[in-house]
Amino acid sequence: IKEKGIKNIQDADNQKALEEIRVKLLGRKGELTEILHSMKDVAPENRPKVGQEVNQIRDLFQTSLDDAKEKFVQAVIAKRLEEEKIDVTLPGRKTRLGSKHPINIILDDLESYFIGMGYQVVQGPEMETDHYVFEMMNLPKDHPARDMQATFYINDERLLRSQTSGDQARVLEKHDFSKGPLKMVGPGKVYRRDDDDATHSHQFQQMEGLVIDKNITMSDLKGTLEMIAKHMFGQDRETRLRPSYFPFTEPSVEMDVSCFNCDGKGCPICKYTGWIEVLGAGMVHPNVLENAGVDSSVYGGFAFGVGLDRLAILKYGINDIRDFYTNDVRFLKQFRKEE
Ligand code: PHE
Repeated sequence: IKEKGIKNIQDADNQKALEEIRVKLLGRKGELTEILHSMKDVAPENRPKVGQEVNQIRDLFQTSLDDAKEKFVQAVIAKRLEEEKIDVTLPGRKTRLGSKHPINIILDDLESYFIGMGYQVVQGPEMETDHYVFEMMNLPKDHPARDMQATFYINDERLLRSQTSGDQARVLEKHDFSKGPLKMVGPGKVYRRDDDDATHSHQFQQMEGLVIDKNITMSDLKGTLEMIAKHMFGQDRETRLRPSYFPFTEPSVEMDVSCFNCDGKGCPICKYTGWIEVLGAGMVHPNVLENAGVDSSVYGGFAFGVGLDRLAILKYGINDIRDFYTNDVRFLKQFRKEE
């Protein structure tokens, strides 16, 4: 039994076979157990000897089994170590970094520029009310200028804002003029029922600006707009104001900058005019102030609204506005600062 058992243990070539042998040798129905059970058939004087021997063999089997098992366990560990070996000297794989969206680059830049000049930054809701977007901005329900912006209505009162100008009314209502002048910018998304193409989008971003105090004049507006243009497009840009119309400003203007593609001489980008329109602005209409409970005989100021997509298109020479929201990584990663 002893030699056969040991040989079986040595021959076992996997853990499962080893376990089967263990059961056969030491299990309840194993050969050794059987001998112990039949002790009663052994002459009494021989029992201690036989018992001792059986116990010895059992211990021997147990140690051999343990050794054999340990060998298998070690082999498994060795195999895993080999398989999962890593070469720590290999160069690491680069994780791809995201990049700031070009519109956010412009937005963050402008925001900190205005914060530096003491403006507060506000953000109104994208789903706005007719009240703030239109009525408060001197556009009563039947006003023809409502057609200037094809608006997505949700119901009679709620809409997706077609301009950030409603932010003006929200801030005007709350501002405490005894604490000082009002200076704010309000960036955010706006929506219009436009068919998307290279230059139109149903969704784009604006930044509203509003300054109200005593004795604010049109030259303050002009100076501010000129600073924005030079900050954005470089000190060499020329600017000009053209008369325009907005219901919430009087007088109203649009600002052009000299075309930086042809230096004002004329090219397809500026449609051979030498000028590119960048924003709308004007002196705040007294009705807008009065609607918000501000005394228009004491306070006045200017407002402007600039399309951030427009600025980004001009600044980076982008030729399709849809690139801004189709999230093509090849487009977006061009604005990464470093690779
Ligand atoms: N809200 C106007 C637009 O969307 C821009 C504007 C803002 C004009 C403020 C004047 C004053 O076209």
